[in-house]
Parts: sequence; C-alpha cells; structure tokens
Amino acid sequence: MAKDTLTVIDNRTNKSYEIPLMYGLYPTESSAIRATDLRQIKVSDDDFGVMTYDPAFMNTASCQSKITFIDGEKGILRYRGYPIEELAERSTYLETAYLILYGELPTKTELKNWTHDITFHTFIHENIKKFIDGFHYDAHPMGMLVSTVAALSTFYPDAKLIFNAESVKKQTYRLIGKMPTLAAFAYRHSQGMPYAYPDNDLSYTGNFLNMLFKMTELKYSPNTVLERALDILFILHADHEQNCGTNAMRGVGSSQVDPYSAVAAAAAALYGPLHGGANEQVLRMLTEIGSKDKVPTFIKKVKAGEGLLMGFGHRVYKNYDPRAKIIKQIADQVFEVTGRNPLLDIALELERIALEDEYFIKRKLYPNVDFYSGIIYQAMGFPVEMFPVLFAIPRTSGWVAQWEEMLSDPEQKIARPRQVYQGPAQRSFLPLEQRS
Ligand code: ACO
Repeated sequence: MAKDTLTVIDNRTNKSYEIPLMYGLYPTESSAIRATDLRQIKVSDDDFGVMTYDPAFMNTASCQSKITFIDGEKGILRYRGYPIEELAERSTYLETAYLILYGELPTKTELKNWTHDITFHTFIHENIKKFIDGFHYDAHPMGMLVSTVAALSTFYPDAKLIFNAESVKKQTYRLIGKMPTLAAFAYRHSQGMPYAYPDNDLSYTGNFLNMLFKMTELKYSPNTVLERALDILFILHADHEQNCGTNAMRGVGSSQVDPYSAVAAAAAALYGPLHGGANEQVLRMLTEIGSKDKVPTFIKKVKAGEGLLMGFGHRVYKNYDPRAKIIKQIADQVFEVTGRNPLLDIALELERIALEDEYFIKRKLYPNVDFYSGIIYQAMGFPVEMFPVLFAIPRTSGWVAQWEEMLSDPEQKIARPRQVYQGPAQRSFLPLEQRS
C-alpha cells in the first residue's frame, strides 16, 4: 500500500529521511509537509538543519483553517462550505458575518440577538470625534480609519483579555458595530460635514448610508436597492482566507496584542495599492484612459511593462474571480437608480480586449473583485478615497474570525519567520579615523 510520506535523500550525506504528508481539500488532493520536519536534515550536529525559503509565501501554508475555501483554478469561493453565489443571493452581511465567525448559519433567535448586539455597539466615545477633528481636511479616510480603530484599544482595556470568551465576544460586537461609524465619521470630516449619529432602526448598511449621507432630514431612509447592493458587496468582501491583510491580522495577533491593534495592522495592509487599494487605482486608471477608443493604446503600454492593468490578476485566482461576476450583475441594478457610470464602457472594453489578448491569457489574468466594485461605489456617490474603507468594514468579520481561529489553534505561536542570511561574516569595528 502507498504510504503518505515523502522520502528525501540528502546527497551531501547520502542519508534518507521519511517525512509525513498532511492533506487539505485544495488544491485537489493537496499535500503539505511540516517545514520543521526538514530541520532533522543536517550535515553535522552543529548544522542548523534545512529550512524552506519562500519569499511572499508563494507555496507555504501558514495555518490550517475551516473558514474560507478558494479554488483559484476553478474560480470557487465558499464561506464555511456555502458558495458565495448563494450567500450573495439569499443572505445578509450580518448573517454571513455570523456564519464566518461561528461556523454555522444562525437560527432565527441567534440572528435576532446577533443583529441587536451589533446594532447596540455602533456608537463611539465622544472623545474619538475630537481626534478625528484633528486630522487635516484632506486626510485619507483609510489613514483615519487605521488610526481610530487602533485608538479603540485605549478605550477598551478589557480587550487585552484575549483568552476570555466574554471579552472576545464584546470586542467582536464593538469591532463589527463601530467600523462603519469610524468610517462614516472619517468621510464626514473630509467633507467638512457634521457627524451623523447611528440610527438603530436601520439595517447595518442602511445605517452606514445614513451616517454618510444624512443631511437635514429628521430621519434618513436609505434607497432599498442601494442598501441591498451595498449589503451584497459587504458579503463578497467578508473573508478571503490568507490574503495580505488577514496574514497581518494573524501575524500581529499572534503576539497576543488586543484585537483593535491587530485590526489596525490588517487594515493598514489592506490600504496598499496591490491589495484593497486596488479599486481606488482602477477608478483612477479608468479616468485616466478617458474613453473607449484609448483602450488599445493603454493595453499596449501595459504589455510593454509600463504599468499594470489594475483590477486584473490575483495571487490565487487563475480564473474569473467569482466575486467580480456577482458585482458585474449588481452594477445594472445600481445604475438603474443612479444612472449609468460612463466609466463602465471603458471597463467593459478593457475586459473584452484583455480576455482575448495572448499576454493576459498566458498569465491567466482575469478581472478580480476590485475591477467593477469601484465603478459601482462611484455611482453610489462615494469618492475614490472611500473605496478601501468600504473593503475594510466588511472584512472586519473575517479578520476577527481568523484571529479567533488562530488563538484557539494549539499549534500556533508568535509568528516569526526565519531568514537566509546573506550579509557579511563577522568583522571588527573600525574607529572613524581608520575608515576610508
Ligand atoms: N497587469 C499586467 N500584468 C500583470 C498584472 C496586471 N494587473 N498582474 C500580473 N501581471 C503579470 C506580471 O507582470 C507577471 O508577468 P511576467 O510573468 O512576465 O513577469 C505575471 O503577470 C505574474 O504576475 P505576478 O505579479 O507574479 O503575480 P502575483 O501573484 O505576485 O500578483 C497581484 C498578484 C498583486 C494581484 C497582481 O496581479 C497585481 O498587481 N494586480 C493589479 C493590482 C490588483 O488588482 N490588486 C487587487 C488584487 S485583489 C485584492 O487584493 C482584493
């Protein structure tokens, strides 16, 4: 019978080592070895042992997880086993967040309590308004969000009790409840508008729209199409296994810091243009292209290495990102309310040309989640600076779920990679006057 092991022969010593394999669901029949099993491979007793070298984690699993499944070749995304298409059609963001965090869809009572608990943690301390006031008028809202969520840890010292189930529950409510409030206040500050307080009668996304766009009316009533569209966008962004931001959440959280500080780190990672900042870059790119007839010239430039086609390509998806497909469908519903965003025509033309072009086909570059989301957000009235913020809000549930999974995993410790040192060997300090 075939054995579930690898045999490694060290040609330096002619010794042979048998290393056990472990299995996961993806890639099909995927197998992994424990990197520490390689440490027994040595040429002498004082040899450190063989390590693996994997910059950018191209082929390294940093954890075992039961939260999100992605098959990048086939373009499949599931949360806790449920296909993203079904959740987008039939669930709500808060229900999906519960599923991601606790592993099962909530019962009626559980959903009612969960919605109540999140809704009643949407207010922020009045002092937070004071330091939002301190930001420059043109401060990027993502910078404000990263700073204010980090600052929440100073308001809730009980957040340090990361192994206390009651405290973790409380911080989970607070994080998911307060992120939209911090984001909306950052937006209102950048617009020079007075802050609009949470309205507990509204849904999660309805209230967010209220805090963003409420003017002089006594009660804000969100447009139901836009409210639902935003809710679906939030479902699509809730988790995405071990991406750059989530890796930051787990890495920083592994030092056992409070979850607000870890979420701030994750949000900072998300801010980058190669990650959650990409939809902002997509919009800038589309605006710069300006019209459909300029698309071929732009594609030529990309192929010549003069910049990227933003919103295309993904580390994991080597097929159409399933989230991009759903977003493309929502676009029509949103445009019926807001009017068609003229940038859509440029995006469709870019997609059409790129998907037929050998350069993109060969590299398996397809539209990712960010390619169409920005066009919808812009049509809904969000300035481009708010795009990464609109990503960070729903991703918070995924970050917290991944953080909790990491804390309860007996195999996890403080995340601390090794390096392959290539610098100078030991040398002696030279006094300044002897240096040339
Ligand atoms: N436009 C043009 N060429 C691209 C693009 C692109 N958007 N993306 C990748 N390529 C090319 C690379 O130049 C490389 O070509 P080469 O083999 O000739 O050197 C090849 O495709 C492979 O690309 P890598 O950079 O090695 O792929 P990697 O997995 O490291 O990067 C990433 C993935 C960062 C998403 C990349 O595709 C990219 O920069 N895309 C644009 C930014 C973007 O849309 N990011 C959002 C990702 S989704 C998210 O984070 C939510």
